[in-house]
Amino acid sequence: MAAMAPPSDPRGRPLDGFAADTYGDRFVDVYDDWYPDVTDTEACVATVEALARDVATRRGTEPRVLELGVGTGRLAIPLAERGVHVTGLDASPAMLAAMAAKPGGERVRAVLGDMADLAQADQRFDVVLVAYNTLFNLVEEGAQQRCLDRSGDALTPGGLVVVEAFVPDNDIASGDTVTTRQVTAERVVLSVSRTDADAHLVVGQYVDITEAGVKLRPWQLRWSSPEELDHTASSAGLALVDRWSDWHRTPITPNAPTHISLYQQTTP
Ligand SMILES: C[S@@+](CC[C@H](N)C(=O)[O-])C[C@H]1O[C@@H](n2cnc3c(N)ncnc32)[C@H](O)[C@@H]1O
Repeated sequence: MAAMAPPSDPRGRPLDGFAADTYGDRFVDVYDDWYPDVTDTEACVATVEALARDVATRRGTEPRVLELGVGTGRLAIPLAERGVHVTGLDASPAMLAAMAAKPGGERVRAVLGDMADLAQADQRFDVVLVAYNTLFNLVEEGAQQRCLDRSGDALTPGGLVVVEAFVPDNDIASGDTVTTRQVTAERVVLSVSRTDADAHLVVGQYVDITEAGVKLRPWQLRWSSPEELDHTASSAGLALVDRWSDWHRTPITPNAPTHISLYQQTTP
């Protein structure tokens, strides 16, 4: 009689034991090496600065930006170096320490916290920035909604919540994949992921193998289409005021792989 296959873990569930600081703590040692140019850093910084200055100038104040999931400061440090007052929030003490250790890191006000449960801000911001799919790191039910609710509350009058995220394909399929990220004589990095298309959830691990041992680098994303994001934003009292396909303000097209969406409070 053929042996029965053991039951596999059900798809559509976030990773057990994955907390708000897990991603940062497990990726901090490779983040800058693996993701130096994930997006157009220069154009992003220039555009966010211009947006914040526009809002601030109307009020006769200096521009203030809050970046949620600031990481190692890829965006926040150059933004602060341009004279913008930048607060960077992250759930990972390791990520914040890495940012602080970089030249210019001291210019960013670092705040430890969960972007799903932002504490009442002690100041308001002309732009609240959630870059590079970071909003999708919030996988628990209602977490993205809470994040946008509190982001809206943290805006100055006329301020903007700016979200950068990928546009999900309509035909994402459920299933498991294993691919190879790196193979050298000293190191193998495998990428293992499990997608549940109905739940809009993908969970994964980079399995980083060297002679010293194995390091697991887990990640997870709950994706939303731009329309779903607009709906969440609308429930947070935020209305879409512009949508681009890149940081050069190129108007969005139907096949754009990413979007940058700008939201403003409907009743400031
Ligand atoms: C993909 S990295 C992006 C870093 C940076 N924004 C950039 O574009 O290079 C996501 C960051 O969000 C942080 N993060 C993930 N979940 C978070 C949460 N619930 N609250 C605050 N930060 C979180 C991680 O620690 C990590 O530093």
